[in-house]
Amino acid sequence: MEMTIGFLIILLAAAALVHAQSQIGFISIDCGSKQDAYTDTDNGIRYHSDDNYIKTGINKDIAAKYAYPANPDLPQPLSDVRSFPQGLKNCYSFTEAGKGSLNLLRATFFYANYDDKNKPPEFDLYVDVNLWSTIKFSSVSDIITTEIIVTAVSDTMYVCLVNTGSGDPFITALELRPIIDSSMYLKSNSTSLLLLKRLNIGQTNSTGTGRYEDDKYDRIWTNYMKPNAWDSLITSQPINNPLDGGNGVPFRVISTAVKPRNGTSTSLVFNWSSANDSSSVFYIYMYFAELELLGKSERRKFNVSWNGVPLFGPFSPLELSVSTISNSTSTMSNSRAVAGKEHQISIIKTEDSTQPPILNALEIYLVKHMNQSPTYGQDVNAIGEVKSTYQINKNWEGDPCSVPGNLSWEGLKCNYYTSFPRITSLNLTSSNLSGKIVASIGELSFLEILDLSYNGLTGPFPTFLENLKSLKLINLTGNHLSGNVSNTLVKRSKAGSLTLSVDAQNLQNHCGSVTCKNNKKIVVPIVASLSSALIVLILLVLGWIHRRKGKKKLEEAEMNKKTGKTVAIKKIHFSLEEILEITSDFGKVIGKGGFGTVYHGYMKDGSQVAVKMLSPSSSQGHNEFKTEAELLMRVHHRNLATFVGYCDDADDHLALIYEFMANGNLKEYLSERSTDLNWQTRLRIAIDAAQGLEYLHHGCKPPIIHRDVKTANILLTQALDAKIADFGLSKVVPGDRDSDHVETTVMGTAGYLDPEYYTSHMLNEKSDVYSFGVVLFELITGQTAVIKRNDMEFTHIRNWVVPKLREGDIAKIIDGKLQPDFEVKSVWKALQVAMACTNIASIDRPTMSSVLAELKLCLEMELFRDGDKRSPARSMEEMFRATYGPGVYLPSNDDSVNAQSMTAPFTR
Ligand SMILES: *[C@@H]1O[C@H](CO)[C@@H](O)[C@H](O)[C@H]1NC(C)=O
Ligand SMILES: *[C@@H]1O[C@H](CO)[C@@H](O)[C@H](O)[C@H]1NC(C)=O
Ligand SMILES: *[C@@H]1O[C@H](CO)[C@@H](O)[C@H](O)[C@H]1NC(C)=O
Ligand SMILES: *[C@@H]1O[C@H](CO)[C@@H](O)[C@H](O)[C@H]1NC(C)=O
Ligand SMILES: *[C@@H]1O[C@H](CO)[C@@H](O)[C@H](O)[C@H]1NC(C)=O
Ligand SMILES: *[C@@H]1O[C@H](CO)[C@@H](O)[C@H](O)[C@H]1NC(C)=O
Ligand SMILES: *[C@@H]1O[C@H](CO)[C@@H](O)[C@H](O)[C@H]1NC(C)=O
Ligand SMILES: *[C@@H]1O[C@H](CO)[C@@H](O)[C@H](O)[C@H]1NC(C)=O
Repeated sequence: MEMTIGFLIILLAAAALVHAQSQIGFISIDCGSKQDAYTDTDNGIRYHSDDNYIKTGINKDIAAKYAYPANPDLPQPLSDVRSFPQGLKNCYSFTEAGKGSLNLLRATFFYANYDDKNKPPEFDLYVDVNLWSTIKFSSVSDIITTEIIVTAVSDTMYVCLVNTGSGDPFITALELRPIIDSSMYLKSNSTSLLLLKRLNIGQTNSTGTGRYEDDKYDRIWTNYMKPNAWDSLITSQPINNPLDGGNGVPFRVISTAVKPRNGTSTSLVFNWSSANDSSSVFYIYMYFAELELLGKSERRKFNVSWNGVPLFGPFSPLELSVSTISNSTSTMSNSRAVAGKEHQISIIKTEDSTQPPILNALEIYLVKHMNQSPTYGQDVNAIGEVKSTYQINKNWEGDPCSVPGNLSWEGLKCNYYTSFPRITSLNLTSSNLSGKIVASIGELSFLEILDLSYNGLTGPFPTFLENLKSLKLINLTGNHLSGNVSNTLVKRSKAGSLTLSVDAQNLQNHCGSVTCKNNKKIVVPIVASLSSALIVLILLVLGWIHRRKGKKKLEEAEMNKKTGKTVAIKKIHFSLEEILEITSDFGKVIGKGGFGTVYHGYMKDGSQVAVKMLSPSSSQGHNEFKTEAELLMRVHHRNLATFVGYCDDADDHLALIYEFMANGNLKEYLSERSTDLNWQTRLRIAIDAAQGLEYLHHGCKPPIIHRDVKTANILLTQALDAKIADFGLSKVVPGDRDSDHVETTVMGTAGYLDPEYYTSHMLNEKSDVYSFGVVLFELITGQTAVIKRNDMEFTHIRNWVVPKLREGDIAKIIDGKLQPDFEVKSVWKALQVAMACTNIASIDRPTMSSVLAELKLCLEMELFRDGDKRSPARSMEEMFRATYGPGVYLPSNDDSVNAQSMTAPFTR
């Protein structure tokens, strides 16, 4: 007896082995299973428990009423579920698939009252960071299966269940099937295919599913037949079925077909409807193989059309050989996208055909845009190392930044304005970490804030922090680190770009150079909270350095003169007499403001200039003015107004000479000639200005913060190229007394002034980003920064936009003076950029570099719409990227197609 049992087990194991071998790359998870692994006797597929794929959640059995033995036909994987009562998001992760691979993912949900509440939940299913489907049941015993063909965009693929507040998410089964040899399914990083229908047409034998092992990709084919209108064809002869060209459609599926009954019709018609969304786009794969042996004089020939539009043809199926027609094949005669709400595919006999049309199999997929990008790979790996090293006991699941709704892992903050989200803040204060500071933190190259205080960490003070150029705050107090903070970090802290908090023992070398308090926990004085006085102090020091350098240069020039060498030294300092000559005795006024008057002039070489005479009574001294001016002379950029020279001769008069800009400033242009500015021009102006600012912030050493970015300071050339003016001068130019100017100790102009800078006095380049956001709002809306309602009431432009944005009424936001001819998506995206720039917290604002990148994408969208011949030909993929670029959250025009109520895969 015992022997017999043993023999049986061996046989079963051998069978399992055979199956396991041919299921290469399959991942089959029976979610909630208490068994490690088993082979489903229905189909030979080897299922595993969740253990290797997810750590969170609890196992539950479905209610007895729905389970075996009450329900003897219930497939084994459906008898239990994994439920997620905790956490907003729970994720399965797959590392086997590999970046760039194409995979079929199938998720199954069978509620069956597993929680005794008799109320099925509703929740969202995500693949990586993009929505796959919303899971919604029609009854307690509803079985939902949803399937998607998706490209892995990183080494780890995630399938996440997201609690949307309508009950605890759960899952019954999850399967992954690599699509390795077929090149027919759309492979794209930015789109995926959601299965709508997969039909084995003409099949009448209800035994068997057509899935594995018939189908190497384990696709599930549903029998489909219109018994009153169609006749079934069937063959038992072998059919030539190449993978490429046939998509590996199984014999069981391709060996059956239909034709219209008895020649009652000359066409086969198949229709479906895509719920209520007319913007849905579909991919259709039609499979044909001639199953009837036709005589010499007979011929089968037909055309395929969609909603009356010819799609393909004329076409004759090959005898006992598979051909696939999809609108994505190059043989398409008419490549109109199959988009719309009601769909009808007609296969119509041609005039010269003696036989009616046939159809063997059909797949319909809905195109889903995968708009969101996952977190940058390097950051994912680095934070993964942090997670595993410290055994972080938090719900750190799935993608670190791109949890739906841009919720990042607890303790992380991210920048979403780069192509891939980047981690900018890591806060693990008092998190019971132990051991050394893990070096992978040094890989988080966008990190701005690192707070590891009060963890009792040991080991040497990390030197790799020096390499993190964006760091603004390091808090390592409350640890037991040995060794000293590096000089580089201390220098950066003293320069005001870094806030540094460390324990006293890490500051041994630096006491004296840095103020140290005598208590145990010591904080290096934070220069980031610069007071105005300190700014002045630094400026004075800088000024002194520059003056020294200037002097040295002049000395060198004198030396060179004496030694006979000629060195071209551009004249930048002008006397009052020369100014009079340049301006023809202040002959032509081209501008006026509280600061003084701007005159038109000609230089000796004939070039036109604008001479800005500053009002008397500058509180700053001439020396500062002069050094500042010399500094500015060295800043050159296409999008910065060229500074020609200055004059500080006149007792109380200072003059600045700029190149003349034919079209004045953007403020005037917008208020007087805005109809001349179409959306593309406005975008180009925004990009120009952004380029200028980006150069000041990231291209200059030391970085220059403009502090008074506004439309009045953006000048336009004859060709409407934009240049930023008055950069770096806000420190020396006496207060602008325009009516819209608010005099505060903080520099800036009402409406453009960064609210955080205003309250904290902490200046950084994000203040310019804020002001730039306001400029962008003005370009989009045509409104002014401060909108006057009446004499008493004023509204800030952002507060004017936000309520309209909430209503989703973009038409009310966009400047009515814009020609209606523009790409709305481009404007919409620009609006998102402006919103991000004007975030109240400066840390949430993008840098000028990311702003610039986003604006360039906006321009691409606009150009692409124009069918601009000059823009390089781009692939579909790039086009999608340009249209639905990363980091931007367009109003969802997603499908509402119900792809869920397909036949359950497990039915026998
Ligand atoms: C798609 O993603 C893969 C992997 O990330 C990458 O190698 C490939 O270049 C991407 N293709 C496009 C067109 O972006
Ligand atoms: C129906 O299909 C099953 C499985 O593919 C097969 O074993 C059986 O012979 C078929 N029956 C008929 C009548 O063709
Ligand atoms: C089709 O032909 C068969 C016999 O050839 C006949 O019995 C049947 O009525 C015909 N059906 C129709 C719809 O004409
Ligand atoms: C197909 O069209 C017929 C009528 O033409 C209609 O009755 C049927 O509901 C449609 N089917 C789908 C799936 O839209
Ligand atoms: C195929 O159809 C899809 C959706 O219907 C569309 O997006 C795509 O552009 C089409 N491809 C070709 C080559 O026409
Ligand atoms: C880190 O988080 C704690 C609370 O979770 C907070 O008090 C602290 O301010 C944060 N640190 C930084 C630098 O934001
Ligand atoms: C550093 O962290 C400690 C403890 O969490 C806190 O008291 C201190 O204020 C922090 N320093 C800074 C600059 O945030
Ligand atoms: C569109 O379909 C979705 C989901 O099927 C549904 O929630 C929504 O109410 C429908 N809208 C209209 C206008 O029918």
